[in-house]
Amino acid sequence: MISTVTMKWDGKTLELVDQRKLPNVEEYTKCSDSDCVARAIKDMIVRGAPAIGASAAFGYVLGAMENKEHLSVEVMENVKAKLAATRPTAVNLYWALERMHSKFLSEVTNKKPNEILNILSDEAERIANEDVEVNKRMGVYGQELLPNDATVITHCNAGALATVDYGTAIGIIHSALDHGKKIHAYVDETRPYLQGARLTAWELIKLGVDTTLICDNMAGWVMKTKKIDAVIVGADRIAANGDTANKIGTYSLALLAKKHGVKFYVAAPISTIDANISDGSKIPIEERSHTEVTEIQGVKIAPDEVKVYNPAFDVTDADLIDAIVTERGVFRYPYTESIARIVESR
Ligand code: MRU
Repeated sequence: MISTVTMKWDGKTLELVDQRKLPNVEEYTKCSDSDCVARAIKDMIVRGAPAIGASAAFGYVLGAMENKEHLSVEVMENVKAKLAATRPTAVNLYWALERMHSKFLSEVTNKKPNEILNILSDEAERIANEDVEVNKRMGVYGQELLPNDATVITHCNAGALATVDYGTAIGIIHSALDHGKKIHAYVDETRPYLQGARLTAWELIKLGVDTTLICDNMAGWVMKTKKIDAVIVGADRIAANGDTANKIGTYSLALLAKKHGVKFYVAAPISTIDANISDGSKIPIEERSHTEVTEIQGVKIAPDEVKVYNPAFDVTDADLIDAIVTERGVFRYPYTESIARIVESR
């Protein structure tokens, strides 16, 4: 059983809060098969690297359930491939699917289908529960980086909604509050999809944080004219050298932070590290629909003839990142050795 705002799992059905409709409507999409979960990830009903990973794990279980009568390696490879083909940048998706598939491969012999299904369901629940534990641990390490009265800038949504619960970057803010610290957050709206305005602002207000919404292009001026202690962001994929893919606009924020002497922190679980990728240039960057740029919430804001470029993520160079906060502690630039060490003991 899993029951958080982001997702609910009862052993047969995955319910996902429809993040496209928040904060105006809190509505859940019910998935009883793996196609539905794949669609939910692709269509951004669920989004955020760790939340995508956990959802895919439950999607894998549903895929095994719908193939109960003819469970085979080939069938489950197809389920895995279908779920993996949904979004290309967040590595947690592949990490969770690999973990589910190796569990399947190690349990497939000498077991009845029902036993295999129970083992897979337990493994997916373990992935989900571990995500929450890991975020809480990250929060405790990360809050130590913030002064008692801190003003931070956030980008996109790396909160409870982007994870199973608690969040990564927003988990640090949550933990700072629990440690009696006072936080004021400037929230980047995060064009074009508005995860900051719609989701992060909603979450921070619920947490009781003093929250100010800004358009993305205001961040430089805010850094210049206000006392900002840190930018805190999440990550979708971290290369072996610490280069970090995150929501488009993160790279510009890191450059601005460097210019203004503002600390730039990335918070991410170890499952977000892709040690197979030596540096950020090899991280696949998702490009999304042109209408996300030419329309805002269905209202056209640009001429039909205009060309559009809509990369959903960018890569921030490791040397622009002051620290990477993980569940195993805080790492400082240069990251290659610490990342290699963590990955080895993963
Ligand atoms: O396109 P999205 O909304 O899935 O992008 C999400 C982000 O970029 C988050 O910052 C990232 O996944 C970290 S979430 C803890």
